[in-house]
Amino acid sequence: MPELRDALDALLQEVPPARLTESVRRLIEDYRSGRPADEPLIRNMVDATAYAAYRMPATHAAVSAALAQLPPIAPRSHVDLGGGTGAAAWAVRGAYGPVPATVLDQVPETLKLGARIAKDLDFTWQEWRLGDPVPGADLVTASYVLTELDEEAQRALVAQAAAAATTAVVLIEPGTPPGYRRMLAARDQLIGAGWHVAAPCPHQLACGMRGGDWCHFAARVNRSALHRRLKDASLGYEDEKYSFVAALKAPAPSPGRIVRHPVFRKGLVTLQVCRPDTSVGPVLVSKREGPRYKAARDAEWGDAWI
Ligand SMILES: C[S@@+](CC[C@H](N)C(=O)[O-])C[C@H]1O[C@@H](n2cnc3c(N)ncnc32)[C@H](O)[C@@H]1O
Repeated sequence: MPELRDALDALLQEVPPARLTESVRRLIEDYRSGRPADEPLIRNMVDATAYAAYRMPATHAAVSAALAQLPPIAPRSHVDLGGGTGAAAWAVRGAYGPVPATVLDQVPETLKLGARIAKDLDFTWQEWRLGDPVPGADLVTASYVLTELDEEAQRALVAQAAAAATTAVVLIEPGTPPGYRRMLAARDQLIGAGWHVAAPCPHQLACGMRGGDWCHFAARVNRSALHRRLKDASLGYEDEKYSFVAALKAPAPSPGRIVRHPVFRKGLVTLQVCRPDTSVGPVLVSKREGPRYKAARDAEWGDAWI
């Protein structure tokens, strides 16, 4: 979203690059460790700025891509738990228009920074710790938060999200095997609380991924010059891998889902599809199938496939 990118780039000019780089290095190490955090990983304004610079474009892209897999909804309010600098609020706005959003987080610096990035938008920023009351909203999200919590706290957050939402709960995590396992546990919990899984799964039964495979997707993120410098990266883009679960109060038809990059060979497309009968396997579409072949050729990882 160019608006977000411009707002971020303007803000980043204010912090000396050396301090940002140092903070980015520490945050990358802390997040890679995968340990639940005993204390907030973002400790001050420089950390918050570093987070916004190197992670927010990617978490924003992941949330946007996850929302694109949902059946149509029209939320009129949004609450984001552990919302940090507001990536999910921006993504929800991109998907559904100017939905009033409340971003809740334990670190005041991330909220202050988020408010500056989104200065012209209708977002509310509120200090909040897991367990504090959550205002009700049509849509409740939590992106890249469960990863910082132990199992008991993860369950508590999912329960709070489910209790506060009236229409949809969307949870997003890194697209790693542990991130996927956290999504499976959250999915079970949401189904147990009477919610209906709307994406990515085309069914409410146990996940059919086998053989050490895990359900995840990828969102393309274009890197700005500063972003590249901070991450010591040469490519002009990165692919952010994410796992997610979206649940709706009302059941909605959910189609089969393409769960890998399609493979193209001369006159043949192979799609790896998760199907409503819970099986996950290849679907071969040949050139002889005309419009179906054209649809398969245009299909992407994460798209629906009937
Ligand atoms: C990795 S950041 C993700 C931020 C944002 N959701 C995003 O996708 O960019 C995790 C956020 O969760 C917040 N968080 C972690 N544990 C929390 C808790 N117990 N209560 C409130 N916020 C928490 C952190 O302060 C941090 O801002």
